[in-house]
Parts: sequence; C-alpha cells; structure tokens
Amino acid sequence: MTDRSATLILFGATGDLAGRMLFPSLYNLQQDGLLPQDFLVVASGRSERSDAAFREDVDLGLRRFITDGRYEAEAARRLTDRIVYCAAEAGNSEQFAAIAGRVKGREDNLSIYMSTPPALFAPTAVSLSEAGLVTTTTRIAMEKPIGHDLASSIEVNDAIGALFAEERIYRVDHYLGKETVQNLIALRFGNMLFEPLWNAGHIDHVQITVGETVGLEGRVSYYDGVGALRDMVQNHVLQILSIIAMEPPARMDATAVRDEKVKVLRSLRPMNGEIVRQNSVRGQYGPGAVKGEIVRGYADELGHASDTETFVALKAHIDNWRWSGVPFYLRTGKRMPARHSEILIQFKPVAHSIFARNGPGSALEPNTLIIRLQPEENIRLLIMTKEPSLDRGGARLREVGLDVSLTAAFEGQRRRIAYERLLLDLLEGDPTLFVRRDEVEAQWQWIDSIIAGWREAGMKISPYAAGNWGPSSAIALIERDGASWYE
Ligand code: BG6
Repeated sequence: MTDRSATLILFGATGDLAGRMLFPSLYNLQQDGLLPQDFLVVASGRSERSDAAFREDVDLGLRRFITDGRYEAEAARRLTDRIVYCAAEAGNSEQFAAIAGRVKGREDNLSIYMSTPPALFAPTAVSLSEAGLVTTTTRIAMEKPIGHDLASSIEVNDAIGALFAEERIYRVDHYLGKETVQNLIALRFGNMLFEPLWNAGHIDHVQITVGETVGLEGRVSYYDGVGALRDMVQNHVLQILSIIAMEPPARMDATAVRDEKVKVLRSLRPMNGEIVRQNSVRGQYGPGAVKGEIVRGYADELGHASDTETFVALKAHIDNWRWSGVPFYLRTGKRMPARHSEILIQFKPVAHSIFARNGPGSALEPNTLIIRLQPEENIRLLIMTKEPSLDRGGARLREVGLDVSLTAAFEGQRRRIAYERLLLDLLEGDPTLFVRRDEVEAQWQWIDSIIAGWREAGMKISPYAAGNWGPSSAIALIERDGASWYE
C-alpha cells in the first residue's frame, strides 16, 4: 500500500456483512501494515448514532468475529479511531452534505462500498453525485446481487454506469476473493500437466458442488423468493465454472481474464423448454438432521409454505470447441450433510487397456482430479497403480490418490478472509477479481432462461430431508448418464 491517503465510504455499515466480514478484514489489513497511514472510513447506515457509539459496535464485532486469536484491544482502537459515522438515506441531501463534509479534502482517492440491498445502489449513487462525491477517480463497489434478473441488472448497471466509468465499478463476488478460487488459475495455467488434457477430447464430465450446512440463518426477508439458483448459481457457481472452463488469458490482468470468462458465460447453452425439465432439479429441505443435530424444515423456519428452492442441481453445457459434449453437473444447497465446495474433473478412460484380460482387480478406473476449495484446501488426483504382488495372472491395478493438502503445504500462513483481498484491490484500484458488466449480464441471461423454463414446465419443488445431498432426483440427474456425484 502506498503512502497516499485513502478514504472509504461504506454504506450498510451497521449490517451483518460489515460486522462479520468487512470490519474484520480492515482490521487484518491494518495488522499486516497494508492500510495507508492516512486512512479514513466514513461508515453509514440508516439509524442515527454517534461516532463513539458506532466505534464501540465495531469493536464488539471485531471481538466476536476475529476468532483466530489476532484480536487486540489496542489495535482495534487504532482501527476504530479511523472510522466516523454518518446516518444517511438516499435522497436526503443534508445527510449526504454531511458525508461530503467528512470527506472534504480527501476526494482524490475515494472508494465507495455499497453493502446494501441493490434497490439502494442507484439512488445512493445519485445522492453521492449530487453531493459532489463522484469524480472521475471515484471507485464504487457493489455487493451481490446486481438485480434479480437480466432486465433489473441492466437497470442497475445503466444507473451506476451513468455516473461511473465501467473500469471504476467493482461488482463483488466474494468467491473471487478466496485464495482457493484464485488458485484454480494458478493450477491450470502455472502447470504444463493439465492444460493439454483440459478439453472434450480427454474430459468426460465436470462436477461443481457448493454445499452448505446452514439453513435460512434469519435471512428470511432476503432469501425467500430468491432461492438457490439466484443466490448461489448466478454468481459463485458460475464464476467457478467460468474459471474452470475459460481459455488461457494472455495476461493476468482485468481485461484479459474477464474477456475469457465472459466468452464461457456466453457459450452456456440456454436451458429452456424440455431441456430444463430433464436437466435441472429444484429442491427444498424439510425437517432432518445435520451433523447430528435435529433441524427444522425450510417452511417451518419461514412460518409458511413456499415455492423457493434451497437446492438446485443442473446439467449444463458449454457450446464451444473445447467443451463440446462435456456435461457440467452443478449443485448447491442449504442443509447439506457437509459444508464443502469442490470441483471434480472426470477424465475419459484410457483409449486401450493392455490390462483388460489380466484377471480380477485390474479394471481401469479413469483418472479423476478433485479440487476441494473449502473448508479444507486440497487437491487429489486419482490414478491407477500396480498392486504389489507376485501373481502370475498379470498386474492387478488399483486406484490410489495423489493428495496435496494446501493447508499443510502453506502451514503457518494465515487463511485470509476473502474480503481482505477484495477491499485491498478496491483501495488500490485493481478490478481483476471483480465482475464486469458483460459478465454479470451474461450470467443473468442464462439464469433467466432456466427460470423461464421452470415456469413453462411448471417445475415443482422436490423435498429433501435436511442433512442429505438434495432430493433423489438430483442423484438420478447424473446417474442417468452413467456417472455419480463424488462424495
Ligand atoms: C452468499 C450467499 O453470497 O454466499 C449465502 O448469499 C451463502 O446464502 C454464502 O451462505 C456462502 O459463502 P461462503 O463463503 O460461506 O461459501
């Protein structure tokens, strides 16, 4: 970080994300000496609070959410001393004038972070502009979701685009801030081993699973009516998919990487009509048990019946040369048996087995690459090896795993919160790990095709007991093709 002063205006500063992630991330950046000496946060929420009361709230949040032993009261005070609080509601020019007063003289390196519902993005940006806070250098970050379909995302993008140039708009997908997601790029393009095989000629299918054990977590007003497809697939799952499937970017920069990702998103085969009926599953958890704990069903948590899916499984296709005919099986859900995010690359069988007639135990399993993104970070390559034996019947082969634990390989290194990377990039002006307008719109275009298909087909929710990997139809979805989900 340079010596240049920096200012961050944070909307939604009294919200859950700010408390759990954003302030702890700023704390960690400060502790690592990565914040500029002269750094000011203008925190803003709807309710009136004094600076002192807000600083106390932030401190309580830091005590609660910094769980790796890094919390120190004195260091927390150094951070909270850099925070001032201004209540503001979009459209209230007096309140925005007060924010401008706090920022006065520091406008040249200003970042704005919207951690608010998307309906507030545009009106807040207009109020900022009217208060003179939007200059040709101001950057703006927006949390997901950007809209709830293509039309509404275009509206948000148009409104923000009228005030900010695209290169200064930072659309957040916190999965891109995760080390393990960035490591996918390193794995693919930092090694000679994988890339020559990374195509339809050698890969049978790809699986992406993002499982969560949590349920609604008190997010009733946001989640119901949104569902797993919009909440997780539209953004996180599609970002993982586009990194796995993209062509090698010419350089590791914002334009080259995002150019390649958007080409993948635009090649996703629309899933309307009969395709969606056959290739998707919508599920909703009922009562069950997760990790030995009895939990209520979704409708029970909600207090009424609902048509919102808490699980979705899809068989997707990328219609381009590299991936022609390779299914991408995607699934994500709440109240799964385990919290894990994983990518599986299933290679094709060897072209000709010289072992085929050599007796029992020598059936050849095709190679499998499994990349676990969270909670542990590891890479596993399943390969065939010869079982030690003196049998005359020929070699007996067995599948064994080549395992790399990234956690162990980088032992002693702190696992950063994804938002540390993203906040630092926002403050330093690097948009590579943020979502560009054409990406988010291509994502919505595909998601809209699925939602329209569901509507046309009258796709009903299939129930599953909490603590399972979705409804049985999700298992059938992949097993029909002779494959199975990797557990
Ligand atoms: C958010 C979703 O974007 O991602 C949540 O809105 C979900 O519903 C969360 O729980 C998952 O993030 P992570 O980092 O815990 O995998």
